Amino acid sequence: MTEKLEDIARAMVAPGKGILAADESSGTIKKRFDKINLASTEDSRRDYREMLFRSADAMKNHVSGVILYDETIRQKAKDGTPLVDVMKAAGSIPGIKVDTGAKALAGCASKFETITEGLDGLRERLAEYHALGARFAKWRAVITIADRCPSYNCINANAHALARYAALCQEAGIVPIVEPEVVMDGEHSTHDIDACYVVTEWTLKEVFQQLYHANVRLDGMILKPNMVIAGQRCPKQASAAEVAEKTVKLLKSCVPSTVPGIAFLSGGQSDEAATEHLSRMNAIGDLPWTLTFSYGRALQAAALKAWGGKPENVAAGQRAFSHRARMNGLAALGKWDQKLEEAA
Ligand code: 13P
Repeated sequence: MTEKLEDIARAMVAPGKGILAADESSGTIKKRFDKINLASTEDSRRDYREMLFRSADAMKNHVSGVILYDETIRQKAKDGTPLVDVMKAAGSIPGIKVDTGAKALAGCASKFETITEGLDGLRERLAEYHALGARFAKWRAVITIADRCPSYNCINANAHALARYAALCQEAGIVPIVEPEVVMDGEHSTHDIDACYVVTEWTLKEVFQQLYHANVRLDGMILKPNMVIAGQRCPKQASAAEVAEKTVKLLKSCVPSTVPGIAFLSGGQSDEAATEHLSRMNAIGDLPWTLTFSYGRALQAAALKAWGGKPENVAAGQRAFSHRARMNGLAALGKWDQKLEEAA
């Protein structure tokens, strides 16, 4: 594995490949397991993730890297092989989530505003993660659209934290995934696509300003934004063509061409919508950076359901995961087609 930041970043967004976000915290993975009536234990979490990481076709051909949670980067497969070695053998780069979560931001008019924590002691934690094999990291800032928010204070504080995190990562030889997410789900998600456009634009402008002040090298980072899309509870949903067109327009106005790649989060979109939107954006063409995926739910939902926590369903889970990875790999090239879903 090459060690230069820009080489790692470029490998993360290699043509036809994207990132698997498998960094659900213990609380979040429990919620996912609840849906299949599976108890969340160290072993069940290991079995699930081992199933994904041993999906040879997906890992070799469509997944450039995997974002891990602290427990997983230290965990061993059932046969004793470290999970990090399992994914490295498949040609995938290990990454690590390093933020410690979004907490209520004091002094805000809205109860929805949060600040992402985790900077204290981060330099030491990054050194340990590097020794454990991580070559990229992730930090997610959460921006909510609701009555009286986002505020400037929230966007500024989160952008500042992202920049401090990114600078620490690069110092440690780790590529930062900079993830400012304007959320599309939740009880307040009634905003339309144009409100998402305005808030995402504000957020990205602030993020790149803070990255500049923090001397973050743009060729050694990956941006992980939301798409420009209506909130889940908005009665007026935009077409796939509009989501693609507005997202590309916005990114072109906010993201310097030195950034090697943009890897979207799925944010609550259906599996197919996340794939279709990405493919349509790439089909527009003439983009200064690579556009790919860094999906959690939209890559895992079908696999989790097919597996259902049963050892006899491992092959079915891997087939479901490989299919979604292949569809998204095609979308990263602008070559996905609805007919390919039906043929599966
Ligand atoms: P989703 O694709 O499920 O939004 O997760 C991506 C992620 O890593 C969120 O931080």
